[in-house]
Amino acid sequence: MKDKLQELKQKIEEAKLGGGQARIDRQHQQGKLTARERIHFLLDEGSFEEIGMFVTHRCTDFGMDKQQFLGDGVVTGYGTIDGRPVYVFAQDFTVFGGSLSETHAEKICKVMDLAMKTGTPLIGLNDSGGARIQEGVKSLGGYADIFYRNVMASGVIPQISAIMGPCAGGAVYSPAMTDFIIMVEQSSYMFVTGPNVVKTVTNEDVTSEELGGAMTHATRSGVTHLTAANDLDCLEKIRKLLGYLPQNCEEQPPALPYQPDDELRPRLRDVVPASAQQPYDMREVIEGVVDDGSFFEIHPDWADNIVVGFARIAGKSVGVVGNQPISLAGVLDVNSSRKAARFVRFCDCFNIPLLVLVDVPGFLPGTDQEWNGIISNGAKLLYAFSEATVPRVTLITRKAYGGAYDVMNSKHIGADFNFAWPTAEIAVMGARGASEIIFRKEIAAAEDPDAMLAQKEREYQEKFANPWRAAARGFIDEVIDPADTRRKLIKAFALLENKVANLPKKKHGNIPL
Ligand code: HXC
Repeated sequence: MKDKLQELKQKIEEAKLGGGQARIDRQHQQGKLTARERIHFLLDEGSFEEIGMFVTHRCTDFGMDKQQFLGDGVVTGYGTIDGRPVYVFAQDFTVFGGSLSETHAEKICKVMDLAMKTGTPLIGLNDSGGARIQEGVKSLGGYADIFYRNVMASGVIPQISAIMGPCAGGAVYSPAMTDFIIMVEQSSYMFVTGPNVVKTVTNEDVTSEELGGAMTHATRSGVTHLTAANDLDCLEKIRKLLGYLPQNCEEQPPALPYQPDDELRPRLRDVVPASAQQPYDMREVIEGVVDDGSFFEIHPDWADNIVVGFARIAGKSVGVVGNQPISLAGVLDVNSSRKAARFVRFCDCFNIPLLVLVDVPGFLPGTDQEWNGIISNGAKLLYAFSEATVPRVTLITRKAYGGAYDVMNSKHIGADFNFAWPTAEIAVMGARGASEIIFRKEIAAAEDPDAMLAQKEREYQEKFANPWRAAARGFIDEVIDPADTRRKLIKAFALLENKVANLPKKKHGNIPL
C-alpha cells in the first residue's frame, strides 16, 4: 500500500507541474497565473476537488504518443465560492498551449454535464491556442460537443467565461454563448480570424490587441461584459458577479441580511436638473435607491447611453436598467437596445427582478441607425421586456417620449409597478418638436413666428410634459417624491416576491435576432 500511495503522490506532483517548470515560469513572466493558481484564487480556500487529473490524450500522429502530460491541458473540477458550489475548468497553457484535444474537450463536457445535472453554475477560465492541430477533426468535434452543451445549459445554470490568454478561431463561440465574458487587459484576446489572415484577406494592418483585445471588445464590439486589470482582478470579479446570481433557474438569488432603516433619500430631489436639456448621471439615481455600494455595473464601457447592472434592494438581487442622460441624452440606439435586451433576458432566466429607470428622448435618428437595423434591434428590447415574467418595476425620472416610453418597461407591456417623479414628461415627443408639427400653420401665419412657437411650446409643455395625464389613465401607478423612492421600491419588490406569471404555451418565441 505504501508503494501505491507513493506512486499516487508522484502522479499528483507530475500533474501539477503541467507542461513543466520552464513553461510555468514563462506564464508568470507574462504576468499570467497558471491554471491551478487561477482556480486556487477563484474558489474558497481548500474547496477545490479535481476531476480527471490523470487523463491523457489519445493522439499518436506527429510523435504525439511520446508527449504526454497528465490532465491534457485543462484542469477541471468543483469547489465553492462563498460557500456555494460551482464547477470550473481552467485551460493550462503550459500543455500544448492549452489547445483543445478530444480528451481535453471530454473533460470540459464532463463538468458541464455534472453542472447541469446538479443545477450548479459553470465557470470557464480560457487560455488556449485553439484546436489541437495534431488532432484535426477530433478536436473540432470536441468544440462542437462543448458548444452544444453551452446551448443546452443556457438559461438553466449561469455560465461565466473568463478570457485569460488567447481565444481564437471557432473557440470564441463557447464563451460567446455563455452569459458573461470577462477579459483580462493586455494578456487576452478573442477573434475569429487573427491579424495574419486579416492582412491576407483585407490588407489591413492590425495588432492582436487592436483586433480583439479586452478594450476593443469592451468598448467597440460589446463582446466582453467586463475587463479586469489582471488575473486576480478577473477572478475577484467572477466571485462578485456570482454573488448576485442563483445557482440555477429553479432557485432564487441569494439574499443578504437587511435591517429596515430610515429609507428617505432627500438628495434624490436634486438629481434631475431644472432644465430639461441638462444631463445628469443616472448612476446617481441608482446609487440613491439601491443598498449602499451594491451596484455592480455590467458592460460599463459599451453603449453607455444605457446603464445595466446588478444591485441589491433590501438585501435582494435586482437587475437595473437605466437610460443614461449623460451619454447621447440617454437615447435608445442599436447597441444600447441590444445591450439592455440581453441583460433583461438574463435576469428573466434567473429570477432576478428588474428595476427600470427611464429618462429617454426616443430612438436615435439617422441613416447609420436605420441601416444598421434600429428597427429590429429596438424590437429586441421591446420583446425582452414584454416576455419577462420576473417582478418588473419602472420609475420615470424625466423624459419618456414616443415609442421609447412603450419600450422602457411601460405598464402596457407588463410592468407591475410604474412610478414617476413629478419631473416626468410623458409625451409623444419633446414640446418644441411637437409644437412645430401640430401648430405649423398658426406659427407660419403669426406676426412673430418665434414668439408664437415659444407660446405653443409652453402650452404643450403644460399639457403633456408632466406625469399627470399618464397617472390619470393609470399608466403610472403613483407620482412620488424622489426622496421616498427607495422606500417605495423596497415595498414594491417585497409585494412582488410571490408574483406568478405564465407565458402562453409555445415551443419558444421568435425574438427578432
Ligand atoms: C497544438 C499548440 C497549439 C495548437 C499552441 N501550441 N497552439 N499545439 N495545437 N493549436 C503549442 C505550441 O506549439 C508551443 O509548443 C506551445 O503550445 C506554446 O505556444 P507558443 O507558440 O510558444 O506560444 P505563444 O508564442 O504565446 O503563442 C501563442 C499562440 C500560438 C498565438 C496561441 O501558439 C499560435 O498561433 N498557435 C496556433 C493557433 C492556431 O492556429 N490554432 C488553431 C486555430 S483554429 P512548444 O512545445 O513549442 O512549447 C481553431 C479552430 C477551432 O482553433 C474551431 C472550433 C469550431
